[in-house]
Amino acid sequence: MMGMIFNEIEEIIVELFDEDEWDRILEECGLEGAYTSLGYYPDAEVWSIVRSVSQLLDLEVAETLRQVGRLLLPKLVARIPGVCAAFESATELLLNVNQIIHPQVKVMYPDAIPPVFEFEHDQEWILVHYRSARLFSALAEGFIMGSAEYFDELCEIEAFELPKPEGASFRVRFSPTVVG
Ligand code: HEM
Repeated sequence: MMGMIFNEIEEIIVELFDEDEWDRILEECGLEGAYTSLGYYPDAEVWSIVRSVSQLLDLEVAETLRQVGRLLLPKLVARIPGVCAAFESATELLLNVNQIIHPQVKVMYPDAIPPVFEFEHDQEWILVHYRSARLFSALAEGFIMGSAEYFDELCEIEAFELPKPEGASFRVRFSPTVVG
């Protein structure tokens, strides 16, 4: 995973706890933690950090990854400005992730290996198929939750198919928050 993702996870932990907690997590994982934003580091290090954070928060690993994704999305949007500027809703953002967002990320950061999704949708639900052996489908769910919050919308996510080695499917429904 790209170093910038580790940098943002560090920022999340420091905001939730403090710098010492981040250092403790790294120590527990046996990691040095000198992540440069353009560097590329083993996914195993993400999993190790997420496992350690899950113990700290007393949450399941998948739920921890979801919450990390939720908090990460607005940070990524701020870090790579312009990529999402044209979108006005979480649905637009999600449905442009394959054609616009991730390809632009790849142009700017050729080492990035973003996932590809398949979407099916009717009026109500967007069915999201995450097809990647990297098994970050809970991170994708978190990014979707973060997109909803970014546009001040609510979202419901339901598992559709249990995660398998080749990916996972879930369905998403966004709705505007009720004002007043
Ligand atoms: C709802 C929208 C999005 C979803 C569902 C999504 C999903 C994901 C997932 C699951 C990964 C982990 C890699 C993998 O599973 O193979 C990832 C990686 C990444 N995404 Fe997205 N993403 C979204 C939006 C964005 C946005 C808005 C940005 C930037 C502004 C972004 C930038 C990146 C970057 C830099 C990586 C790291 C790639 C790597 O380490 O190789 N994504 N995305």
